[in-house]
Amino acid sequence: MSSVSTVPATTPRLEGKVAIITGGARGIGESIARLFTKHGAKVIIADILDDLGNSVCEDLGLELASFVHCDVTIESDIENAVNIAVAKHGKLDIIVNNAVVIDKAKPSILDNDMSDFEKVISVNLTGVFLGTKHAARAMIPARKGSIIMVGSVSSSIGGVASHAYTASKHAVIGLTKNIAAELGQFGIRVNCVSPYFIPTKVALDFFNMNEDEPSGVYSNLKGVTLCSEDVAEAALYLASEESKYVSGHNLALDGGVTVINPAFGLFARAN
Ligand SMILES: NC(=O)c1ccc[n+]([C@@H]2O[C@H](COP(=O)([O-])OP(=O)(O)OC[C@H]3O[C@@H](n4cnc5c(N)ncnc54)[C@H](O)[C@@H]3O)[C@@H](O)[C@H]2O)c1
Repeated sequence: MSSVSTVPATTPRLEGKVAIITGGARGIGESIARLFTKHGAKVIIADILDDLGNSVCEDLGLELASFVHCDVTIESDIENAVNIAVAKHGKLDIIVNNAVVIDKAKPSILDNDMSDFEKVISVNLTGVFLGTKHAARAMIPARKGSIIMVGSVSSSIGGVASHAYTASKHAVIGLTKNIAAELGQFGIRVNCVSPYFIPTKVALDFFNMNEDEPSGVYSNLKGVTLCSEDVAEAALYLASEESKYVSGHNLALDGGVTVINPAFGLFARAN
């Protein structure tokens, strides 16, 4: 008998699940919140942008989505977000550690300030650690859960973004592997999604671009453009039972750009 799933594509894949999405007030996090609720999940958007976060929740419907003010660098804020999820919905099944900041692009390390470096590390790495720690506190007794990190092409290659951002995103992969090693014994899966460029606020600011500028210049895969909804689909896969045996994995959404060294140019394109 075939083991291929016969579940119709329209079946909600997160029915009854409860998810926290850090940095869910806009950009990729917002897309994840929208797709997760569409698939039956209750979501908690944990962000520092109160107005934006609240308006996304109102748009999604307050029975499905709630906002909690949460700075991921403050442990009591994260603890509170997890406590709210559990108090409101009785459990926590999924956390997406998505919140991010980036420092300015500076061509020389000599111009990099320690305080800027530490700020990026504290949101992009310590924030991920804290989100994971408190999610695990709720998930371990339940002996199940899915923890999803958001990496980047800068999780695998250098020379794309700042030192702090690149260091933080590489470290997130290390954290993913180490926490997967620990939490597997409790049935908790830990994975990462790592996208290529998407014209959200943080990316446009860093690359000093506006939304209309073409972003496919360095992409390997032509004819398609990555968008926030594609990352949401990958997060949906990692959150759902379809990925029940996937843990410690980094799912790159980059059209292959991080596995190729174009400098060698065997398959160089004419254009
Ligand atoms: N856009 C891209 O090109 C791209 C590429 C690769 C990876 N990513 C990753 O995708 C994720 C989402 O980024 P985005 O592009 O949607 O950016 P974005 O700027 O649109 O959203 C980032 C969100 O994080 C929130 N945030 C910032 N500091 C916070 C803090 N201390 N506590 C809580 N929330 C905080 C912001 O308020 C915002 O809502 C990030 O992890 C980023 O590294 C983005």
